[in-house]
Amino acid sequence: MLSDAFNRKFFYLRLSLTDECNFKCNYCLPDGYHCDAPKQNLSLSEIEHLASGFAKLGTNKIRLTGGEPSLRKDLTEVMQICANTPGIKQLAMTTNGFRLASQAKRWKQAGLSHINVSVDSLDPRQFELITGTKTFTKVMAGIDEALNQGFSAVKLNAVLLKAEAQATFEKYLQWIKQRPVEVRFIELMQMGERPEYFTQHHIDGAGFKQYLLREGWEQQIRAHNAGPAQVFHHPDYAGKVGLIMPYAKDFCSTCNRLRVSSQGKLHLCLFGEEGIELRDLLQQAEQQEALCQRIESALQTKKVSHFLHQGNTGATPHLASIGG
Ligand code: GTP
Ligand code: 5AD
Ligand code: SF4
Repeated sequence: MLSDAFNRKFFYLRLSLTDECNFKCNYCLPDGYHCDAPKQNLSLSEIEHLASGFAKLGTNKIRLTGGEPSLRKDLTEVMQICANTPGIKQLAMTTNGFRLASQAKRWKQAGLSHINVSVDSLDPRQFELITGTKTFTKVMAGIDEALNQGFSAVKLNAVLLKAEAQATFEKYLQWIKQRPVEVRFIELMQMGERPEYFTQHHIDGAGFKQYLLREGWEQQIRAHNAGPAQVFHHPDYAGKVGLIMPYAKDFCSTCNRLRVSSQGKLHLCLFGEEGIELRDLLQQAEQQEALCQRIESALQTKKVSHFLHQGNTGATPHLASIGG
């Protein structure tokens, strides 16, 4: 079992399949995706070796991320490989939902069980302003299709942006009254070099938590392999509310996840380091032992916290390059 110097256990791997994205979310890639030299994403065989190595170390959940993972042409093969890796019990993906309506059935057949979709606003005009795309109707049709297909969970992610946060929150509460969907509100995180964007738009999630508790929502106990959200439920609502508050005290104490970028680098945290090369050890099945040793010893250098409070914004310019 993977554990670090602070006795945290790591069961959950977030694997980015590509940096590329076809959206231009203004907190993430406002100018769209640019790349000077084409990048060679991990191949199917490298992914197979990676998934087996992590499973050997006790990983039981893999989440596919991006950029936008569905831009990869061989996505269903990636899903089959991960889902069929002995030890992997849960295969999840985070997507912008662009291909969800047309692909949900195929993905489910390929072994995907859990799906998170970014929908920052339920107002079509606002959605267009945030993502730089006219895809609201398509993404929402994708969510209906995912619900029809009977995934184990369908969750929506909305980044809290100050000016719209209250209206978005209220609209979502109405929306989940009849829908068995968990909506997670994510505090804006400062990435890379845009401190002014963060200062202008960041809003603390604590006020929303107080509101939920006042209105009779109850906080759920967290599963050991769960993500970072605090989840709340209420008898009058079919859906649930999650709050992801990376600036809250003790956020990092429940960290149970590691990240691998689309270029095969291990990231011990969303913030703060350049990544540890794994790719040279993903070439042959016989390298598994060396791969496991490198991951285990890298983990001993994992820091206790992201230190965002102390002004750290990390080496990552935006979440698309590390998979969130
Ligand atoms: P579940 O497994 O369904 O709980 O999903 P998840 O919350 O782990 O995954 P998702 O990709 O939907 O992530 C939602 C948001 O949480 C994204 O904005 C992530 O960047 C953020 N997030 C996930 N893990 C971490 C983390 O370790 N640190 C920080 N600061 N943010 C994280
Ligand atoms: N702060 C918070 N969340 C972010 N995401 C992307 N960039 C940021 C940021 N700076 C979110 C997306 C998506 C998830 C993968 O990451 O909205 O839901
Ligand atoms: Fe693309 Fe996700 Fe970044 Fe939006 S947040 S631009 S969908 S990678």
